[in-house]
Amino acid sequence: MAILNILAYPEKSLLLPSDKVDDIDDTLKKLIEDMGETMFEAPGVGLAAPQVGVNKRIIVYDSNADSPESDDPESDNSIKEFTALINPEIIEASGKIVSEQEGCLSVIDYNADVKRHDKVLVKALDIDGKEIQFEAQGILAVIMQHEIDHLDGILFIDRISILKRAIYKKKLSKKLKNQ
Ligand code: NI
Repeated sequence: MAILNILAYPEKSLLLPSDKVDDIDDTLKKLIEDMGETMFEAPGVGLAAPQVGVNKRIIVYDSNADSPESDDPESDNSIKEFTALINPEIIEASGKIVSEQEGCLSVIDYNADVKRHDKVLVKALDIDGKEIQFEAQGILAVIMQHEIDHLDGILFIDRISILKRAIYKKKLSKKLKNQ
């Protein structure tokens, strides 16, 4: 396994739509393992393949992202498990939620409130190529929308006001200039 380099905005490939996966071979499975490891190391709760420079429709997320921390010393929150979805699609969305202070491993030093759907129905292939369908709500629904957006070349800063986005871009270009 290996930790992959996470690309950051304004890297152009982050803004491109990704290709569908046709064949889940060993190279792809290795990439998925590396993506899981890279996500936990960052640390983050979700990661999409274009963020590691591969424009393919694959996402991984923390399988325990929506379980509250337990006070029970017997339960081990340190067990890290991730789920991979291949060619994920949102086929139904409903409700509204404000994702507070949403962030992204590819958008450095910035968080913002983003309007999202509270409930989404997701269709995808699992790592064995089996078709699955499930409903996600709350934080998990936000993760699905955020990560699937990456596959369409959309970042959360594309979903905030033009003014807020302009302020972020200005701050970032200043920062990049000073490096
Ligand atoms: Ni992201």
